[in-house]
Amino acid sequence: MIIFIGQIFFWLAFFILLFVLGIMILWVWSNIWAKVPFVGVPLHILKDIERELLLKEGSVVYDLGCGDGRVLFFLAKNNPKIKYIGIENSPFPFVLAKFLSWWNKKFHNIDVEVIKEDFFKVDLSKATHIFTYLYPNIMDDLLSKFDKELKRGTRLVSVSFHFTTKRETKELDLKRGKYQLAKKIYVYDF
Ligand SMILES: C[S@@+](CC[C@H](N)C(=O)[O-])C[C@H]1O[C@@H](n2cnc3c(N)ncnc32)[C@H](O)[C@@H]1O
Repeated sequence: MIIFIGQIFFWLAFFILLFVLGIMILWVWSNIWAKVPFVGVPLHILKDIERELLLKEGSVVYDLGCGDGRVLFFLAKNNPKIKYIGIENSPFPFVLAKFLSWWNKKFHNIDVEVIKEDFFKVDLSKATHIFTYLYPNIMDDLLSKFDKELKRGTRLVSVSFHFTTKRETKELDLKRGKYQLAKKIYVYDF
């Protein structure tokens, strides 16, 4: 009997280890494969992002490279009558965001759509608000798409990274520590 229980524990521990290892491999592979690694925005600046977006009823918000979707879930919890779309092309964060989207819809009635796609291929003409936390060169690569597709008045909030050739409406210093990420927010009106 004791040997039997010992065997059950052994196999349980083995499968848990295998599962954790699988998640780690998926995470490392996702980050090697992606041009921008999956690094979620620090949770305590979510309220700053929300304040700068100036959302209202009927807004349509896109998070380009939504990671685990934390920005959209936070916004959707506080501002439910709005459409939220997260675009993510890296497998690990996508699966995580998709699961959290299902979970939040089922248990908290928080509605966020998560799409697996390259955001360069997504039509953004219905957006009223865009959120980004990407890389400087990607911001510049996206600018011509934004200029072509975004409706007049679309508001973009970017954490850390700005365009080199477009002037921001607002630059906000988040007064973060020297070694902390996400020091600034840049706001643009198209
Ligand atoms: C720094 S993370 C930010 C995650 C999330 N927006 C947040 O602030 O917590 C950037 C994300 O963009 C995704 N990404 C990079 N290039 C992409 C592309 N062309 N299309 C879709 N997602 C992309 C990466 O996989 C990564 O998860």
